[in-house]
Amino acid sequence: MCGIVGAIAQRNIVPILVEGLKRLEYRGYDSAGVAVLAGDEIRRVRRVGRVAEMESAAAEDGLQGQLGIGHTRWATHGGVTEYNAHPHISFGKIAVVHNGIIENHEQQRQRLKDLGYAFESQTDTEVIAHLVHHYYQSGSSLFDAVKQATRELTGAYAIGVIALDRPDELVCARMGCPLLVGLGEGENFIASDVSAILSATRRVIFLEEGDIGHLTRDGVKLIDKNDQPIERPVHLSDVSLASLELGPYSHFMQKEIHEQPKALSDTIEAVQDYGFNPELFGDAAAGILPQLEGVKILACGTSYYAGMTAKYWIESIAGLPCDVEIASEYRYRDAFANPKHLIVTISQSGETLDTMEALKYAKELGHQYALSICNVRESAIPRASDLVFYTRAGAEIGVASTKAFTTQLVGLFALAVTLGKTRGRVSAEAEAQYLDELRHLPGSVQHALNLEPQIKAWSERFAAKDDALFLGRGLHYPIALEGALKLKEISYIHAEAYPAGELKHGPLALVDENMPVVVIAPNDALLEKVKSNMQEVRARGGELFVFADADSHFSESDGVHVIRTPRHVGVLSPIVHTIPVQMLAYHVALSRGTDVDKPRNLAKSVTVE
Ligand code: M6R
Repeated sequence: MCGIVGAIAQRNIVPILVEGLKRLEYRGYDSAGVAVLAGDEIRRVRRVGRVAEMESAAAEDGLQGQLGIGHTRWATHGGVTEYNAHPHISFGKIAVVHNGIIENHEQQRQRLKDLGYAFESQTDTEVIAHLVHHYYQSGSSLFDAVKQATRELTGAYAIGVIALDRPDELVCARMGCPLLVGLGEGENFIASDVSAILSATRRVIFLEEGDIGHLTRDGVKLIDKNDQPIERPVHLSDVSLASLELGPYSHFMQKEIHEQPKALSDTIEAVQDYGFNPELFGDAAAGILPQLEGVKILACGTSYYAGMTAKYWIESIAGLPCDVEIASEYRYRDAFANPKHLIVTISQSGETLDTMEALKYAKELGHQYALSICNVRESAIPRASDLVFYTRAGAEIGVASTKAFTTQLVGLFALAVTLGKTRGRVSAEAEAQYLDELRHLPGSVQHALNLEPQIKAWSERFAAKDDALFLGRGLHYPIALEGALKLKEISYIHAEAYPAGELKHGPLALVDENMPVVVIAPNDALLEKVKSNMQEVRARGGELFVFADADSHFSESDGVHVIRTPRHVGVLSPIVHTIPVQMLAYHVALSRGTDVDKPRNLAKSVTVE
């Protein structure tokens, strides 16, 4: 979490920093700040709240400069105050922005206090500023001071550093958090992701773990973790500026929900290009997939629910055992590892710390192979994996994951069928049918999107509630979980999900006329069971809101409201039934007036524990 940006140019870079921070706001949005070299001082503007507030303050201040750094924060160490906002400055000479967590900050803080440094914030970052200052004032160059300081830090960081008497240098370093360098003409940049600098350049270098960069206006030099000079490849970003704009939508979440037919067909195109063949997951897959004896999926949040759905597909289609674990739990337990069980990580951002650490742990335990399902190219998790499937959802900016989830499901479905085919369990006829079902998916999703007016009408009834219950069975139980997560995340209504058959083992006690119960009830093998569970709710006065399909044959009655998708789409039904629960959460949040794209206390990329 937290976003950093920096620029060295021959023009005023304050507008670039501000625009960059606005684009990085998804990474954290409780405070923001910039520091620029202005004549004989480093001038800093920081504000609690959104980048827009800091922008106004910077404009009032007349802030200008040709070298500077900026930060948007998601608080970890120290509360949300201006003192804790970045950049942090040491003795007016060194300014630092930082994304990540310094684990040995307490020892370093004590050491620096003993050396005479005073701290004005509770952050771990201020330690970096003082440590760089300590080496810099002892005679090191700015670059060497950053090198000496970072080699003494443990934890994760992406940092940008400027010094008062170095108007021609911007230094950056990366360990465990994303950082790239942008190459311009007579100007260069650093940023947490390419969106921040896209209006200035598309030519970027992704830094590797332990890299340190030295930027001037005319060039960039890098050293690697062994202090050796290194050249890294220059990439031309294909992210479009338009994809980062709201366009006609009111919120990114709304835009991203409506982009799903396109995101899905783009992702399905990859599957069509390769067919259900190992190459879909990378060149090495043909040698790896046939050896597998099972699958272990590791992920967090919404991505974890994608994994839960995949378990049903992998076990039934591929006939392989599959278990799914929350990454943050797995990484701290003595887990049993079968080396022939493929680790599958799922992550929209590709930089979720818990998922990354779980992947490393799985490898330590002896798992031989790892596959990443990811939406962000060149991010850390796919780079640490043997195989990868990139979803083609495009940039997802709303904190609530929507199109990333449904496209992850496509990737996971393709994995299940490919594994099944590799194991001789999927006939040519079945393969053709699966492909056909995928081809029809974007159309079915579009039909589900057309239900929006009815869902909006329901949302009014939820807006005044304090709690909600979501029920599903089988393949649709993870979709109930996802619906509950979406609702709580953006509307702040307490919501829980249960497999409908579990109701009578406890949660039924919660049901009364104040508890709306959302049921995912398509026409699958468990429909009659779900109908019985719904009777149990009705008998206790609970009000039912049922998402069904035309084949489920539900009718409205007193206390039973039904919205139907046009037809049952078989094994891909969980993807179609995700759409209504996303829209329900969105419209309930709108009615309650919450900040849909930036819900309180959250951030898009969770790069801390
Ligand atoms: O980037 P990732 O997919 O690894 O993120 C995992 C979760 O943090 C994420 O899905 C989170 O639960 C979303 N905010 C849910 O909408």
